[in-house]
Amino acid sequence: MQFEPGDQRRRLPRHLRAPEPAPDEFSFTIRPARAGDLPDVRAIYNHYVENSVVTFDEKPSTHRYWREKFAMLTKLKLPFLVAVTPTSQVIGYALVQPWASKSAYRYTVENSIYLGPGAGGKGLGSALLQALIEACEQIGLREIVAVISDSGAEASIRLHERHGFAEVGRMGRVGFKFGRSLGTVYLQRSLKPKPRRRRG
Ligand SMILES: CC(C)(COP(=O)(O)OP(=O)(O)OC[C@H]1O[C@@H](n2cnc3c(N)ncnc32)[C@H](O)[C@@H]1OP(=O)(O)O)[C@@H](O)C(=O)NCCC(=O)NCCS
Repeated sequence: MQFEPGDQRRRLPRHLRAPEPAPDEFSFTIRPARAGDLPDVRAIYNHYVENSVVTFDEKPSTHRYWREKFAMLTKLKLPFLVAVTPTSQVIGYALVQPWASKSAYRYTVENSIYLGPGAGGKGLGSALLQALIEACEQIGLREIVAVISDSGAEASIRLHERHGFAEVGRMGRVGFKFGRSLGTVYLQRSLKPKPRRRRG
């Protein structure tokens, strides 16, 4: 079949078309989490609960747990971010929660970051952590702490170090999961709170 100049047919048969540009293989947007994201967030987290020692939770988290956490973080205006693909699939999340409940700790938070299976090693963890740090600085937080398992979480330790966290301590044998003792590594980073704009 020949296509002549002026041919009105809109598309060539597939085998005659020029190769299409490769789709953007890994693109994502980072935005604040919404209630509708929680089932995906739960699935991501539960994957690590059931298959790893990077979290010390042993039972899969419930929908209720995530609804309550989302409500608490929303009330406290603390950042809870998700990374979504162009087809709106949640492929990772990052959040902070109060480091401790006593009021003098109010400028210090603990962070948490988890990527879905297949989303690691592509720069997403870095983008999410950077966005989380900036969101914390925007609301005037001063210190951020990561509590990381001392086993199987080398990528997380490295990721946090790349973003300015420094190890400040370790505790041995404080956890026990899958029949073995586990310790924790504490990393801390100071934030640069953005000066609030004066009104008037
Ligand atoms: C931790 C996590 C968010 C990192 O995100 P990511 O986008 O996969 O990060 P990267 O693959 O870019 O890895 C970050 C760094 O760790 C390094 N790294 C990866 N795997 C490693 C390993 N097994 N040992 C040592 N370093 C490792 C990478 O080389 C990279 O270092 P670089 O920036 O110097 O090149 C992601 O791996 C994840 O979700 N892990 C499971 C959940 C988890 O552990 N969450 C943290 C709980 S505290």
